[in-house]
Amino acid sequence: MSRKKVIAANWKMYKTPAEAAAFTTAFLPLVAGHTRDEIVLHPSPLLVAGVAWQLKGSNVAVGAQNLHWAAEGAYTGETSAAQILGVGATHVLIGHSERRQYFGETDETVNKKLKATLAAKLIPIVCIGEVLAEREAGQTETVLRRQVEGALADITPAEAAPIVIAYEPVWAIGTGKTATPEMAQEAHLVVRSTVAELLDDATASAVRILYGGSVKPENATSLMSQPDIDGALVGGASLDATSFSKIVKY
Ligand code: PGA
Repeated sequence: MSRKKVIAANWKMYKTPAEAAAFTTAFLPLVAGHTRDEIVLHPSPLLVAGVAWQLKGSNVAVGAQNLHWAAEGAYTGETSAAQILGVGATHVLIGHSERRQYFGETDETVNKKLKATLAAKLIPIVCIGEVLAEREAGQTETVLRRQVEGALADITPAEAAPIVIAYEPVWAIGTGKTATPEMAQEAHLVVRSTVAELLDDATASAVRILYGGSVKPENATSLMSQPDIDGALVGGASLDATSFSKIVKY
């Protein structure tokens, strides 16, 4: 089963509109004609529409970093799937560890957001991963299983086809510490086998599982060459066009 890799940039709360425009101007020529992988930029909410407009017709897609599960309503500060789709974005991050840690997101809210994303035909990138204390206590597998089970609750194999999962060990995010390719591969296998148990083998072998956590041009190739690593979710090293283009072209 060949899975097209996804190389996604998570810009978090970085870049002004002018900085985002300067990035796209520099980045597009660096990845011109690159169709081997799916390339996606996830700017912060106010920049999604502008970046989508700048990338229109190119080989680079745009995604949001979060959404609300309701179709619409009195939810000040929130964004719906239809609004994301309406500005030309195609992907959305769900349950990033910073959202879980600082904004109270849980496996239950991740599940609601995932359902809203699939219903809108956006491509979800569901983020999971253990914190350092959990890894040190030998709980990594239990945590990953719980997060995947929670995210996929009441979702059928047919509905699950577009789902992308990003395994991001929390201790590796923004710290410069990367999981070794072998550690990442082991975790990805746990995730894939959990998807097989919950849904079916065909869905599990089609689902794309990205690695995230201090991915850089220097470690991208060894991570990407693992059999169950189907791409990368990149924070810090995605803020610079040259650095991110090197990861795309690992
Ligand atoms: P990092 O962030 O690449 O800066 O570690 C990854 C992420 O948070 O998605």
